[in-house]
Amino acid sequence: MPFAKIRKILEGCYENRKVTIRGWIYRKRKGKALIFLIIRDSSGFIQCTVKRASPAWSEAEQLTIESSLQLEGIVKPDSRAPGGYEITAHSISIIGLAELFPITKDQSEEFIRDVRHLWLRSRRMNLIMKIRANILDFTRAFFRQKGFTETTPPMFISAAVEGGSTLFNVKYFDQNLFLTQSSQLYLEILIYSLEKVYCIAPSFRAEKSRTIRHLTEYWHIEGEWPFADMTDLMSFEEALLAHICQQTAGKCGEELEELNVDISKLTAVTIPFPKISYTEAVELLLKSGSKLKWGDDFGYEEEKKLADNFRKPFFVYDYPSSIKAFYCKTYRDRPEIALSVDMLVPRIGEISTGGAREEDKEILIERIKEMGLKEQDYDWYLDLRRYGTVPHVGFGLGLERLLVWMLDLENIIDALPFPRTTRRFYP
Ligand code: 4AD
Ligand code: MG
Repeated sequence: MPFAKIRKILEGCYENRKVTIRGWIYRKRKGKALIFLIIRDSSGFIQCTVKRASPAWSEAEQLTIESSLQLEGIVKPDSRAPGGYEITAHSISIIGLAELFPITKDQSEEFIRDVRHLWLRSRRMNLIMKIRANILDFTRAFFRQKGFTETTPPMFISAAVEGGSTLFNVKYFDQNLFLTQSSQLYLEILIYSLEKVYCIAPSFRAEKSRTIRHLTEYWHIEGEWPFADMTDLMSFEEALLAHICQQTAGKCGEELEELNVDISKLTAVTIPFPKISYTEAVELLLKSGSKLKWGDDFGYEEEKKLADNFRKPFFVYDYPSSIKAFYCKTYRDRPEIALSVDMLVPRIGEISTGGAREEDKEILIERIKEMGLKEQDYDWYLDLRRYGTVPHVGFGLGLERLLVWMLDLENIIDALPFPRTTRRFYP
């Protein structure tokens, strides 16, 4: 007999029929004549009852929390049961009897983080991971629909993308390499062959900051394409974000509701997004009492303050070139300004950075030197400007930062199954 998924049972597909399910014990309560088991599988939870007279009684007695089992019984509609259906069990076979499960109610955040490998079984993490998987699907579908080709750049790299201070060194046989901070430079290579390209891959940052928005390993959604300008870039990014939010609201409604997410915040994400220049952003900040000067980079506090003016995703563009990476294109008549744009959201601040890339070899060499980098480290990158250079744009969006905002998560570590931070890398 095929095994039934709990979700299908709760949808009424097996009313008054015999089913076999496989799963784990979530809760157990024993009465004189009846044992109540709540069983979970990947799709949901269902109440099962075992009568004292049933041949399943002795197995039900032995079962402990998180034991794995196979259970056969009849599905009955029952308005008292959570979910509206219950299974009257006829037989149980224990697959793996669990030792005393260490996670119980009312445990500290700290402890739950230490037993991440077990906490991932929780309903909350199950729902977050399902939504995360859906968001990856929506993202890929959007890129595909816009004619982008998915590519797979390397994680071992030989020169910095985003500055040396957040680089992880890796001993690579007898050489020194780094873990990639962004796949951008590799996507730039591929546009000369495939034109519109994207990747969804890990990026690594030796980031000491312990905030709700920093991981040392995160998943980076990056796109790059030729013959395009800043207007094309912002239109693409806002359409992508609106697509992700609308699809998630439409297709993950039950999961969002169970997580208590404010769905109206997602359905309100429509194009076009508000857009302000860096200079306008500085003026807004000065008005609200900030002490910052033109030319300073925004920190987390400034970004949060700016976001209070919008209460939804928005763009800040035209940053000072001195605070942006070497590859950023600058205005020909105003070299102090970079064609660079960040997307910000409430509570988190920056979730994406993008911009036009310097396509002129000589200006690029100047920028590399200005930033204190070595020209020879970027020789292959300069080749792209030697052989058929084109104006091009691209961006990187942090998947976990996006999830923190979309799902109202308290901390970025819950946006992915196995978080890596300065302090956490187990399991
Ligand atoms: O702003 P960043 O450093 O930009 C780049 O890496 C560009 N090369 C991307 C590109 O144009 N292809 O990083 C982009 C995004 C940030 O906006 C943020 O969402 C995320 O990556 N990010 C992090 N997410 C979690 N933890 C960290 N330590 C992050 N650092 C950046
Ligand atoms: Mg950035």
